[in-house]
Amino acid sequence: MTERKRILTGDRPTGKLHLGHYVGSLANRIRFQHEYDSVFIIADLHMLTTKNTPQDIAEIDGNARALVLDAISAGIEPDNVLFYLQSAIPEMAEINTLFQNMVTVARLERLPSLKDMARNANIEMPYGLLGYPVLQAADILHVKAHLVPVGRDNVAHVEITREIARRFNHLYGDVFPVPDFLSEGGTLVGTDGQAKMSKSLNNAIFLSDDPQTVAKKVQGMYTDPKRISADIPGTVEGNPVFDYHDAFNPDKAEVEDLKTRYRAGQVGDVEVKGKLTTAINNFLAPMHERRAQYEESGLIEEIIVNGTNEVRAMTQATVLEMRKAMGLTGVWNRMRRKVERRQKKMMKE
Ligand code: TRP
Repeated sequence: MTERKRILTGDRPTGKLHLGHYVGSLANRIRFQHEYDSVFIIADLHMLTTKNTPQDIAEIDGNARALVLDAISAGIEPDNVLFYLQSAIPEMAEINTLFQNMVTVARLERLPSLKDMARNANIEMPYGLLGYPVLQAADILHVKAHLVPVGRDNVAHVEITREIARRFNHLYGDVFPVPDFLSEGGTLVGTDGQAKMSKSLNNAIFLSDDPQTVAKKVQGMYTDPKRISADIPGTVEGNPVFDYHDAFNPDKAEVEDLKTRYRAGQVGDVEVKGKLTTAINNFLAPMHERRAQYEESGLIEEIIVNGTNEVRAMTQATVLEMRKAMGLTGVWNRMRRKVERRQKKMMKE
């Protein structure tokens, strides 16, 4: 690969991508794909920290396919980026092991994100979930990434990566860049008005939703509950319908007009939601077109397999460099040489 700076980012293969993913991180990933070498992880080992039954694992290939197809539909160009399947690179486990001593348990225990994940999954914190940010550091650093575009909830994890990179470099010499995070997309509320759009909360509009599905979801959206008829003045601030208009309706004049009339009690929900449906469907239409071009069987899998092979070679080079920097290669070489010398001596005698 070239000398350009590199991005590492990605998701756990738990299902389809939705508008919240788009706003939170995918838009940035698309924006920066030409400026940086971009590597996308399909983080199935990370998925195992909360979902590890044989049924969960059997769903990885389908979910990985959905994830990559969604990303490509949204505008990631497969010729420009590498997608890889984390569990297909066993060297990740070795980097993870070596990084585990670069951070304290207390530091990891302070992260609210890990406790949230355990609570949402209805499980006690597994050892692996406590180590989630350490494995994430391995993901980011095995390709020596400089920039990590993530959603807000992952910023604290990238901070751990920075600490691990600094600690490693301090102990063993300069091996890793200290990566920056990029998280300027914000968080999109759910269609029900809950703080976050999420598949498990059942409040998501997916990038793959067809126009009828979008219309139905928008019609059912939470809006100002005090407005029981169209002539009652409504609140725009914190109203999910207007949050979505701001995010997806490119016609700013139309949005301003709707807001003014909404505040004055001069517009019905039917019009506000109808125009939002049109805006979201226009936003998704080019994605549906690209999706159709890539839906062919085996093509997405080929993109993942080729990417994984290429990334694995990079991982192997990094592991070797780490082992050399740490002196582990030296330990093994000295032992082997001693044995060789002894065997030669015995042969002569
Ligand atoms: N933690 C991310 C998520 O919440 C997925 C992920 C795993 C990731 N490794 C990463 C993101 C490395 C960015 C960089 O789904």
